[in-house]
Amino acid sequence: MRATTGLSDTNNTDIVESLSTFDLPKIRAFQKRTKLGKLSHIPGGSGLPFFGHTYWLATDSHAWLDRKYAKNGPVFRAKTPIHDMVMLLGPEANKLVFKNEGKIFSNFLAWDNTFENLFDNALLERDFADHKKERKVLQQAFKRPAIEGHMQIMNPALKMGIEQWRTGRTIKAMDHVKKLLLNVGAKVFLGIEMGPQADTINQAFIDIVAGCGDPIRRKEIWFSPYAKGIRASKTLCKYIMDNIPERRKVVGLDIFSQLCHMRDDEGKLIKDEIIRDHMIFVLFAAHDTTTSALSAILYALASNLEWQEELREEMSSLNKNGIEFDDIDALQKTGWTFKEALRMYPALSVIPRYALKDFEFNGHLIPANTMVTVSTVFTHYMSEYWTNPHTFDPYRFSPERAEDKQHFFQYIPFGGGAHKCLGLHFADVQVKIFLFHLLKNYKVTKNSKMKKYKYNNVPLTFPTDGLPLRFDRIHR
Ligand code: HEM
Repeated sequence: MRATTGLSDTNNTDIVESLSTFDLPKIRAFQKRTKLGKLSHIPGGSGLPFFGHTYWLATDSHAWLDRKYAKNGPVFRAKTPIHDMVMLLGPEANKLVFKNEGKIFSNFLAWDNTFENLFDNALLERDFADHKKERKVLQQAFKRPAIEGHMQIMNPALKMGIEQWRTGRTIKAMDHVKKLLLNVGAKVFLGIEMGPQADTINQAFIDIVAGCGDPIRRKEIWFSPYAKGIRASKTLCKYIMDNIPERRKVVGLDIFSQLCHMRDDEGKLIKDEIIRDHMIFVLFAAHDTTTSALSAILYALASNLEWQEELREEMSSLNKNGIEFDDIDALQKTGWTFKEALRMYPALSVIPRYALKDFEFNGHLIPANTMVTVSTVFTHYMSEYWTNPHTFDPYRFSPERAEDKQHFFQYIPFGGGAHKCLGLHFADVQVKIFLFHLLKNYKVTKNSKMKKYKYNNVPLTFPTDGLPLRFDRIHR
């Protein structure tokens, strides 16, 4: 595909090998000596001085992507202060990137900028054989018996947490969801009860996430969010490492305790450092994504009261006080609601990769050492696949309509291929348990002046106004 392009002469065979074995010194050496590929032959401008296209990517991505697509087709340049990149739009682009045949794309080199020193050795930034090995280890924590254990923790914790929310007046729903998921997360991920220890750990987690979003990334500026994030990462890592011996002595339902008892292919207990790296990344991968999804769902339910009532009836028809594993599939309409919220407001609006080799897409030759991104939001609104894409319509996911089943890569809120989200069932379960306890007991409404969901796409899709909603207790 590449030899005649005249673009670059890079085969990058060595880096593929270094990534496959996670040979960090060699990967770092590659990063130091390699410059990004030249993109002047790819259509699309550079946007604003310094900021490039950041504003449009963060705030107005639908309209911007539609304009760009109309002008340039599915391949064009985009720029942020951190990267020049090539955007690849549509399900065929998603297929090329996620299937990753020929090992063209690296996750490490795409995500390292965001994660370095904060979430080192994260599963999401492992590549090829090394990734496959590590994913197999972590996968054990998401099998049915493990999820059944998590449900035992989540049912009472989510129920109690929601009961503490103020009713009868408008509150910032996103902030409440975020706090609740942090507290429940401390229990279900780490096995820590609410209290000072959970507060310390939760604060460390908040600082690490803030560090990820710091564009300056200078660890020597001790008060910067990045430097604070690095210190918090050390606190969290220390907590995990210090507690592994104790957790190995007892059996617990939380993910940390479970990982401490898991064994690799040779029957050996998983190494402490691997438990640490998996745990810290899972906390990150799980928390803000689910907060983003629940915020979008709550907005949708407050805007569609009849549909909210239908979900309430679905919950009540179970005739139970909590959800068990076998109830999950019965909550069909709730499942479509989750899917539709993630179609309209996917937590990750773009998904990045780094091209290790020259490749061709839609008649464009893209050189090795280019950052590429696929776009969830663009694909999720393509009128070729979705009827009235700007309308909230959960029935589009019903078996009768199955709008999502026309192309395997048209619906990608959880990514695809080797790195497809490992926690998607966990997220489905958590969202359903949350909605079960909420909707059975409360009605969610919004002010009639609130006409649309106000959100930013960067770093994740979050409401910009904290999501002012009102919760009223239902008296039966
Ligand atoms: C609505 C909630 C969630 C959304 C929208 C979401 C989205 C995603 C996406 C798009 C990716 C792939 C990124 C890429 O390919 O570069 C991913 C990966 C991942 N997610 Fe999620 N996620 C969610 C919840 C969770 C939860 C609850 C967990 C864990 C409990 C989790 C664990 C992971 C892990 C471990 C990976 C890395 C998989 C790998 O590299 O093999 N996620 N997620």
